[in-house]
Amino acid sequence: MPRTLRQAWAGHIAPDDYERHMAANGQPQANAGLLDELFRISPPAPGARILFAGAGTGQYFDYWAPSSLAPYACVFTDINPLYLARLAARFPGESLVDDIEGPCVIGPFDLAIVMLVLEHVDWRCAAAALCGLAGRVFTVTQEDPAVATLRPLPGTLAVLRDHPPKLIERAALIAHFGRLGFTVTRTAIREVADGKKMVGLDFSGPAPAARYHRAVHDHPAGPAAPEP
Ligand SMILES: C[S@@+](CC[C@H](N)C(=O)[O-])C[C@H]1O[C@@H](n2cnc3c(N)ncnc32)[C@H](O)[C@@H]1O
Repeated sequence: MPRTLRQAWAGHIAPDDYERHMAANGQPQANAGLLDELFRISPPAPGARILFAGAGTGQYFDYWAPSSLAPYACVFTDINPLYLARLAARFPGESLVDDIEGPCVIGPFDLAIVMLVLEHVDWRCAAAALCGLAGRVFTVTQEDPAVATLRPLPGTLAVLRDHPPKLIERAALIAHFGRLGFTVTRTAIREVADGKKMVGLDFSGPAPAARYHRAVHDHPAGPAAPEP
């Protein structure tokens, strides 16, 4: 049995168990709705590079036309290669096994999308990594009512009872992105089963290249070498 939540996602939770549970709760349907809204209301420019971090099996593509991403160069990352293989059957994008807390994927991206992942990782670390890769980050996090219903978790997903994800307070998430130089430009919410909410926050900040340039400018390595 996995000893950590990371191990559970990396190799224990079977895609079928995960997808059955999610669909029964209406979560991929809701997240597909949030994606649809994002790309209708404020689409990135054609040709934009888009990162889906912790992309999972791509179940949202069952409810949202993959053709919506045709104008873009998309990269999908996840810690679990089986999930990415299933995603590839739904959408033929570039994919990479990668850890959101210490990503190896090469940026910069115009937009990073991270849906229902931050609750499962060191979210402050992951947020900082995403802000280093993209000038715009769309997060989807889960908010529960004060008294949350505990539904049975099918098969291998039951491991989440031993290693539960930690929900994130919206104010704490916004404050942390604020410290990273990012502000919320739009909030979108979808209600799912049992009064739970999928909360989409569209964060904008300085483009990674601009921040790199400024950091070099602000902290010069030392006095300029004398002219020969
Ligand atoms: C609740 S699922 C959400 C999947 C997908 N974003 C969606 O909305 O359907 C959490 C996802 O985060 C991935 N994950 C967990 N820890 C990770 C890490 N450290 N780095 C990258 N992905 C991770 C899991 O493998 C899983 O695909």
